[in-house]
Amino acid sequence: MQRTLSIVKPDGVNKNLIGEVIRRFEKAGIGVIALKMVHLTKKQAEGFYAVHRQRPFFDSLTTFMCSGPIVPMVLEGKDAIKKVRDIMGATNPKDAAPGTIRKDFADSIESNIVHGSDGPDTAAFEISYFFNATEIFELKG
Ligand code: CMP
Repeated sequence: MQRTLSIVKPDGVNKNLIGEVIRRFEKAGIGVIALKMVHLTKKQAEGFYAVHRQRPFFDSLTTFMCSGPIVPMVLEGKDAIKKVRDIMGATNPKDAAPGTIRKDFADSIESNIVHGSDGPDTAAFEISYFFNATEIFELKG
C-alpha cells in the first residue's frame, strides 16, 4: 500500500469537479483517507511549491493556487502514486491521454484541475504540509 497527496485546484473546485475527481480515484481502487477544503495564503502556496521556486512560472502558479479554495486529500492504494498520476494525465492537457482528468477538463498547463505527488519523498512532504497524524484515517476492508 502506498499513500499520495492529491489536490483539486481552484479551477477544479470552481467547475464543480470535486466529486468527479474523487470518483475517478475511488473507481480505480484508490481510497480517500484524509480530506479538507482550504484557501491558501500566497506564502503557504509558495511553501508547498518551494521545489519550483526558480521556475519562471512560480509566481503565476502560486498566485493561481491561492486564488480560491482547494481540496487536498490523502489517497491510499497499491501503487497509488503512479495510478493517481495516470488518472490525472500529463501536466499539460494538450499532451494528456484521452479519458484522463486533465484531457477531459483542464484549460491549460497552469489551470490543470488537479495535483498529484510525483514520488514517495514528495508525497511524504506534501501529506505533512496539509495533514497531521490525527487527520489521517485507516480504511477497513
Ligand atoms: P502540478 O502537478 O501541481 O505541479 C507543478 C505545477 O506547475 C504543475 O502542476 C502545473 O500546474 C504548473 N506548471 C508546470 N509547468 C508549467 C508551465 N510551463 N507554465 C505554467 N505552469 C506550469
